[in-house]
Amino acid sequence: MTETTHRGCPVAHTDFTGTTPIYEHYRMLDQDREEARFLFNDTTERGFFMLQRYDDVREGFQQHENWTTAVRSALRPDVSGEPLLPQDLNGAEHVKLRRILNQFFAPAAVRRMEPMAQQRCIELIEEIQGVGSCDFVAEFAIRYPTDMFLALLGLPVSDGEQFLEWSDDYFSALLAGDPARAAAAKSSIMSYFDDAVNERRANPRDPKEDMVTRLVEARIDDVPLTQDEILTICLTLMLAGLDTTRSALGYIYAHLANNPADRQALIDDPALIPKAVEEFLRLYPLVFQAGREVQEPQRFEDLKLDTGDVVWLGVAQANRDPRKFENPDQFDLHRPNANQHLAFGGGPHRCLGMHLARLELKVVLEEWHKRIPEYRVAPGTELRERGVQLSMASLPLEWEV
Ligand code: HEM
Repeated sequence: MTETTHRGCPVAHTDFTGTTPIYEHYRMLDQDREEARFLFNDTTERGFFMLQRYDDVREGFQQHENWTTAVRSALRPDVSGEPLLPQDLNGAEHVKLRRILNQFFAPAAVRRMEPMAQQRCIELIEEIQGVGSCDFVAEFAIRYPTDMFLALLGLPVSDGEQFLEWSDDYFSALLAGDPARAAAAKSSIMSYFDDAVNERRANPRDPKEDMVTRLVEARIDDVPLTQDEILTICLTLMLAGLDTTRSALGYIYAHLANNPADRQALIDDPALIPKAVEEFLRLYPLVFQAGREVQEPQRFEDLKLDTGDVVWLGVAQANRDPRKFENPDQFDLHRPNANQHLAFGGGPHRCLGMHLARLELKVVLEEWHKRIPEYRVAPGTELRERGVQLSMASLPLEWEV
């Protein structure tokens, strides 16, 4: 219930940072969206103005000149002190760096990764297929994007396990707002990347094929990227790509395990899988908000914004807005506008890795169901989700062998 107003905006106190039963965050987000078009949430030190409805959120992503990524998460404006690239850049500087990176994440470049993506996916499935059960999140959903990430950087997949430990530790410390633990995990990761980048400086590969070589050779306005910038880009890709893909897979498999008719539809007609991926991304967005910081006083519809205000762009609320998507809580394989979801954001900061993420999700759905068509959530399991950025710690699945 809202009780007061903040600069004319109703105030809400919903806490989106806790661990809850699965899907609870969507319920809270839907409730806030339907309560008022805009809300001011006072649960963080700085508070944030919430844009929650589809048209407002989409428009919000276009306000990039005045609303910058000086704050990236409305819920954790303080972790924005941790440098990330390209996120931290805005305007012309951002465009220049994106141009260098886009080459490796464009649809054609990602398509070239498909045979490798399939092969690694099959290997991982075959490791667990004969066992008849697994913790899908820990034994598959995080290992796969980690291996793909190492391959993208041209690093040995055999480093996956060690790397996973560091990255998991780092990410969870950041989300928990624990800077000391985050710093310790980060230093192991950075020294690993440092070795990899130095190796490429000594032994360059074809910059068209090898991302690290391209980063080493890249120039922006005739100036090479510094070692620190290159390491930060590697770290950013890790942070942005692993937890998100793991979480997306978790929600997709929780859905398919509990909805056998949807699973059967994909088995009967695998050509539907790309559509299913879009609908899953719409229905289960895990980056449920993006943050921005206002640089100059501005009026946005009814909102009176001041310099330094934090804005919340409600990705999940937009994706589940009944004004845009009919029966938004339902998984509909034939939804005509599913691909207009905002799960990858919008505007200049739209997800760099979205084509790679789509490929990974598609390949997993194809290869898994060829080998393990029937599965269920282990009886008695209570699925839970982490707030801030949705993720399940565990998804125990079982099947007959
Ligand atoms: C299902 C998986 C994924 C989801 C749902 C997702 C979601 C998002 C969203 C919502 C944003 C925009 C954030 C904002 O506007 O502040 C974003 C940005 C970004 N994503 Fe993803 N992402 C996914 C996978 C990936 C992968 C696999 C990579 C790379 C390996 C990646 C790299 C990035 C980068 C670098 C940015 C920042 C772009 C910029 O600021 O220019 N993402 N992602």
